[in-house]
Amino acid sequence: MTKRVLTGITPSGTPHLGNYAGAIRPSVRASVQPDTDAFFFLADYHALIKCDDPQRVARSRLEIAATWLAAGLDPEKVTFYRQSDIPEIPEFSWMLTCVTSKGLMNRAHAYKASVDQNNAKGVDVDDGVNMGLYSYPILMAADILMFNANLVPVGRDQIQHIEMARDIAQRFNHMYGQGRDFFVLPYELIDEAVATLPGLDGRKMSKSYDNTIPLFEGGEKLLQTAINRIVTDSKQPGEPKQTEGSHLFELFEVFSTAEQAAQFKAELHDGLGWGEAKKKLFELINHDLSPMREKYNDLMANPDQIEQILLAGAEKARRISIPLMAELRAAVGLRSPNQVAVSAPEAKAEKVKTSRFVSFRDAQGFQFRMFDAADAEVFLSLPFADPKQAGQLIKQLQAGQYTIDQIEQRYHVFVDGVQVAELDQEQQDRLIAALS
Ligand code: TRP
Repeated sequence: MTKRVLTGITPSGTPHLGNYAGAIRPSVRASVQPDTDAFFFLADYHALIKCDDPQRVARSRLEIAATWLAAGLDPEKVTFYRQSDIPEIPEFSWMLTCVTSKGLMNRAHAYKASVDQNNAKGVDVDDGVNMGLYSYPILMAADILMFNANLVPVGRDQIQHIEMARDIAQRFNHMYGQGRDFFVLPYELIDEAVATLPGLDGRKMSKSYDNTIPLFEGGEKLLQTAINRIVTDSKQPGEPKQTEGSHLFELFEVFSTAEQAAQFKAELHDGLGWGEAKKKLFELINHDLSPMREKYNDLMANPDQIEQILLAGAEKARRISIPLMAELRAAVGLRSPNQVAVSAPEAKAEKVKTSRFVSFRDAQGFQFRMFDAADAEVFLSLPFADPKQAGQLIKQLQAGQYTIDQIEQRYHVFVDGVQVAELDQEQQDRLIAALS
């Protein structure tokens, strides 16, 4: 069975080697696994929680998008988008906020860490804590539940947030589901093989320790300079070196095959100098990054291209979020005024048919065309994987059981929360005329 895998990265800085090996590379690898439907996004609403520098957020969105693409993410195959291009997410987040108990958020690690720090400093417990930080797990739950993700690849620090997303999903299902479940329960996907990279000084590679190795920034030259700054012991060339506890060796292993690592280990035991070892490490990493760096630089020189890709991704994602939101609005009692209810099923049963539907199959799946009484085409439907579903949708359309959601100048036709077509104004008028 196909599993939906979803993960986000918060764009609040320039990606470094640790971000690449710990999050970007594994997500791209996961996306090409069989039976995987992958959703990857830039969590830019999350960025506002910890970063109030507009230029930095804007730049980081581009850098992280370009890094993901350069690392081999195929936007045709996965759904790749930016959180802030999906207006249904903050709306959904508010609905979830209203079913989440405050006590649950009091227990969130990120918030508790701030409280602990404030206590240690002897200042007010909530000093410097904004509501974004406090309710961060709810926004994250909205990201995940909106797309019914089964698996969420994250680092260990995020496990609690996935537990909270399950908790919130169950509560919403229970309160509004009337016996059915709106959401599947998501689980974290922790890849034991994924590296938490050590930084130059051996502590976890992190911007806050100022011990990072740049990924593409500054090109080969900065990569080399950073690697030369890796801290080692003071053994001289010729003296045997221990690889246990050597973070230089650990970094090597993250980018090498097992054979390369074994050979490097043997050379170090035989007295390879640290200077030579750094050269080898640089060559190994640079070999991996060079082709990507070129692609990254091309993309960064063409921000419009990145923009196009992200907007196309958002459109794909909204084919799911728009109908789900319409359903959720109705479930909580907030049916949108744009959602014109145009159904009067009983009266229509006997009517002479004024429209005709023709279904067919092509590379995209099962689709159908609607023709009006004059036999002029009204619209071509979206593709569906299941011919039975397409048939059922046609029946319901014919029975007048549809709603239309207007988004700017486009009219989205839904049957039972499933989007069937997207029309312009004229098509919508003809559809309503033909089916009334
Ligand atoms: N909070 C995550 C992080 O800081 C980023 C994130 C936001 C995320 N929304 C998500 C990850 C949804 C997975 C799923 O790493």
